[in-house]
Amino acid sequence: MLVLGIETSCDETSAAVVEEGAVKSNVISSQLVHAKYGGVVPELASRAHQRLIIDVVDEALKTAGVTKDQIEGVAATQGPGLVGALLVGLNFGKALAYGLKVPFVGVNHMEGHLYSNMLIEKKPTYPFLALIVSGGHTMLVLVDSPFEHRLLGQTRDDASGEAFDKVAKMLGLGYPGGPIIDKLAKMGNPAAIRFPRTYLDQGSYDFSFSGVKTAVLYYLRNNRLTDHANLSEQRLADICASFQMSVVDVLVDKTLTAAREFGVHDVTIAGGVSANSLLRSRMDEACKGEGRWLFYPPLEYCMDNGAMIAYVGWMKLLRGVTSSMELPAVANLELV
Ligand code: KG4
Ligand code: ZN
Repeated sequence: MLVLGIETSCDETSAAVVEEGAVKSNVISSQLVHAKYGGVVPELASRAHQRLIIDVVDEALKTAGVTKDQIEGVAATQGPGLVGALLVGLNFGKALAYGLKVPFVGVNHMEGHLYSNMLIEKKPTYPFLALIVSGGHTMLVLVDSPFEHRLLGQTRDDASGEAFDKVAKMLGLGYPGGPIIDKLAKMGNPAAIRFPRTYLDQGSYDFSFSGVKTAVLYYLRNNRLTDHANLSEQRLADICASFQMSVVDVLVDKTLTAAREFGVHDVTIAGGVSANSLLRSRMDEACKGEGRWLFYPPLEYCMDNGAMIAYVGWMKLLRGVTSSMELPAVANLELV
């Protein structure tokens, strides 16, 4: 079965084609318009999706070497995300499916990230543990079998990627901040400053990153560094490395604790922050140390992408699950 997947939940316009779950194309157009605002501007995102969607879908079909008449199902992200942005891809997907007389299915964006490690050749085996870390979410999920998952915990305030982006903004760095902090941290000392690690109640798999973010702000204020002219290159790198280490410490500790409690061998990380080099290396070391196996997707499947949506759409269509043309875009769609 050839399935086209469309993703427009935030600031990436993406479309992909999968055939029996194998990726034939994955085209991602990242909207650069937001960089100068230091964050995603919802109205600009919707308009950029409208401008880009036709070309991105065309390109995905062309790269896959298929025509639209060969498509046997269309999947589009239903939520969570920015409602105006979601509506563009969702309505485009519905109209295309209707015109082609093929089934349409809405996909939960978080399920996309959850199964993004299935897009690579060496796949995790069920049951596996998934840590989803992105700009909007931080979730730890136990996946027993396809579509049977249990949410073990999630963030109570900022998402991990959001903390990276906000700290980068405080430091006068660009947007998105995660990759910039990741790069600068390589030149810094992670033990230079002891920022807090928030573990919450004993046994909880929830996360909280607003404390570490505020600690960075106080550190800058107390050391008169809010004026970035006073920040030496080394101090900047040390702050980045110390902040990153405190976030990664908590992510790795909670994930490994859950892996032990639920006795899972395979651990996966997904979402934009799973591109973080320290998270990858620390999680890999920790898993290997306990005889577990870590999976993380290549960059194009870490970030928001149509391939993960097409893949989940394909799994749903295989099971006979389709959506009606009335399916609404839901900004805060839950992972159930
Ligand atoms: O999954 P994603 O592309 O979009 C959402 O669904 O949010 O994630 C984007 C987030 C941003 O917050 C960005 O700063 C973060 O992922 N990110 C990183 C890295 N690359 C992207 N955070 C830390 N280290 C990175 N290398
Ligand atoms: Zn995402």
